[in-house]
Amino acid sequence: MRNTTHQNLIPQSTGLLKISSLPVSRELDLKPLKFSLIIPTYNEGKNIQQLIPILVQLLDKILPKEYELIVVDDNSPDQTWKLALELTAQYTQLKVIRRDVEKGLATAIIRGWQVARGEILGVIDADLQHPPHILIKLWQKMEKGADLAVASRNVDSGGVSEWNILRRFLSRGAQMLGLIILPEVVGRLSDPMSGYFMLRREVLIDQSLKPSGYKILIEVIARSRIRWIGEVGYVFQERKTGNSKVTWQQYLEYIQHLIRLRLDLWQIRRFIRFGISGVSGVFVNMFILYLLREYVGLGLTRSAILAAEVAIVNNFFWNDRWTFRDFSKHQKGRIKTFRRFLKFNVICLSGLVLNILVLNLLYNLLNMNEYLANIIAIATVTFWNFWFNLKLSWRTTDNS
Ligand code: GDD
Ligand code: MN
Repeated sequence: MRNTTHQNLIPQSTGLLKISSLPVSRELDLKPLKFSLIIPTYNEGKNIQQLIPILVQLLDKILPKEYELIVVDDNSPDQTWKLALELTAQYTQLKVIRRDVEKGLATAIIRGWQVARGEILGVIDADLQHPPHILIKLWQKMEKGADLAVASRNVDSGGVSEWNILRRFLSRGAQMLGLIILPEVVGRLSDPMSGYFMLRREVLIDQSLKPSGYKILIEVIARSRIRWIGEVGYVFQERKTGNSKVTWQQYLEYIQHLIRLRLDLWQIRRFIRFGISGVSGVFVNMFILYLLREYVGLGLTRSAILAAEVAIVNNFFWNDRWTFRDFSKHQKGRIKTFRRFLKFNVICLSGLVLNILVLNLLYNLLNMNEYLANIIAIATVTFWNFWFNLKLSWRTTDNS
């Protein structure tokens, strides 16, 4: 093997599936590029030998010396990684990652993006089912300002070649299910199952991706800051050599993934934590009230105000360390923490006012039972407090 081939073998990375911003460097082999294209492979030895020259010829025309190709192979038994590495002697813009720890299509793509130096990141299947010339059209969409450009089978000039009824049905069924569970994501494009697309690095920076199994596009749209999506029609070609890796397991993983995204986007887990912190505050409140009344002998109103404030401190502590930890860890320092605490206080106070308003409305105007009215008021205030604290106290405006 020649020297270039060693340089072009990039070590596999582990850890969080996050994309960072491009380091500014003038060194030639660290310099940012315009475009990085990931080619995930598993047993695609023959195909990769065909595909790489085609890609190079195409991209040399529109982006000479400003792109890279990254093959991410999961230690294929047919030694795809080795064949790819041999190609790097001729095509120096080609890099190879051989993974033997982590597996799976979705993580392979993200691991590739993680080591990529491109401002625009893309992915294409290795098996020639994604016609390479569509890359040019996708690139044109990006040049027009799209944040994401997707090759789609379901727009004009798009389609599938020889799919049987079962596969068409499963594909459409998967899309329908996505529309039901996650309409605000899946409804944004005509082919949410596509694995052929490109996007701006900046929309992904610092977002933790948690894909499952096969489909990555839905995950990417759900967790990034994509405004404009461009679509380009293409015909999904028949596989000439090698086999598809799709199994029933992938349909199950897909459904699990949709549900997980749904819960994440609704912030269910966070809301439960917020609720638990709130309940802990009730106990703190009661305990302090008891102490102040029994041992200090303070008046009821003063005791209640003090007890409420101690409870607010308690709730803030748990919410800051636990419920909203992902936000607070990026806003370190006493001053910032204190600012969050003040906002939390104000919002809780506004919640108290709301509580009294709702209670009075339900009890005095609608003649509801007062305990039922109180429960409804508490529930309303919990949502109110959660939402406004999420939006105002913890989430900063500069990173959303
Ligand atoms: N590294 C890695 N690890 N690559 C993998 C793995 C894996 O576990 N599994 C599959 N791949 C690679 C394949 O080698 C191929 O290059 C690509 O990912 C797609 O895999 P296929 O098995 O050919 O998938 P498919 O053709 O049935 O499904 C494709 O259908 C979509 C259309 O709905 C998916 O690949 C989508 O990307 C595509 O758009
Ligand atoms: Mn395929």
